[in-house]
Amino acid sequence: MRVKDKIVILTGAASGIGRATAILLGKEGAIQVLSDVDEKGLEETLQLLKKGRDRAEIMKVDVTDSSQVKKMIDYTYKKYGRIDVLIANAGVVRVGPVEDFPDEDYDLLINVNLKGTYYTCKHAILYLKKQRFGSVVTLASVAAHIGQVNHANYCSTKAGILGFTRALALDLAPYGVRVNSVSPGATDTPMLVSDVRKQARERGVDYEVVRKEFEEEGVLKRWATPDEVALGILYLASDESSYTTGSDLRIDGGWTTR
Ligand SMILES: NC(=O)c1ccc[n+]([C@@H]2O[C@H](COP(=O)([O-])OP(=O)(O)OC[C@H]3O[C@@H](n4cnc5c(N)ncnc54)[C@H](O)[C@@H]3O)[C@@H](O)[C@H]2O)c1
Repeated sequence: MRVKDKIVILTGAASGIGRATAILLGKEGAIQVLSDVDEKGLEETLQLLKKGRDRAEIMKVDVTDSSQVKKMIDYTYKKYGRIDVLIANAGVVRVGPVEDFPDEDYDLLINVNLKGTYYTCKHAILYLKKQRFGSVVTLASVAAHIGQVNHANYCSTKAGILGFTRALALDLAPYGVRVNSVSPGATDTPMLVSDVRKQARERGVDYEVVRKEFEEEGVLKRWATPDEVALGILYLASDESSYTTGSDLRIDGGWTTR
């Protein structure tokens, strides 16, 4: 087991990549605090944990609310006396041309993707520094590396995650804490499906047409499964990546190699 008895905090665990990660880390022996705003989705994730269900608990936490995030982190540290792995996965996507972009959607992107990641790390740092070990994994995206049509605001949040992750890796290295990001490409989750649906609607074309375009972006010509991304997160969470910090793992089917 690759993360046996490691204490893991994971945000955005009710769906997609977060859910797949919870299931994989459960199989690999982790003790998990799984959080999300979506309580029903969290319950479903818990039910899907074939292994490690009795070692996982779910918690409704909105990552845009600093005090809720702090409560989750404090609770975990008090209960287990350490935080081995912190995965800031919760995220949202909103797309559209900048000139028409609703300001409330812009605020949501900043609040969930950037501030949510910042709060998740901020409240754990005191504990991580004190214990002098730990692995932090953030979720960037191909959108952090390349431009995507009508994704300027989403791209800016994900590029921000890359900068945040690199700089935090420098701050925490003297304390033996590693900080890395994962950049998924097109991954078959409710987030991407809704993104593709919206684009198809707006362009007046079939869902399958836009889906195919996304598939063509990678050199592997298909979407990733959430499990394929979860495997990368597991690697960074585990001690197998003990010499890796400040790096970004691109799991993008070759999208950014062109
Ligand atoms: N799916 C992709 O193609 C793709 C590509 C690149 C990066 N990503 C990133 O991967 C991460 C996971 O995305 P996914 O595809 O699994 O999406 P998803 O929509 O399936 O899951 C995201 C989860 O985050 C939760 N969430 C949203 N706002 C929240 C908040 N304020 N507080 C707590 N939880 C909140 C949602 O309820 C949901 O359960 C995101 O950071 C996303 O930006 C996804």
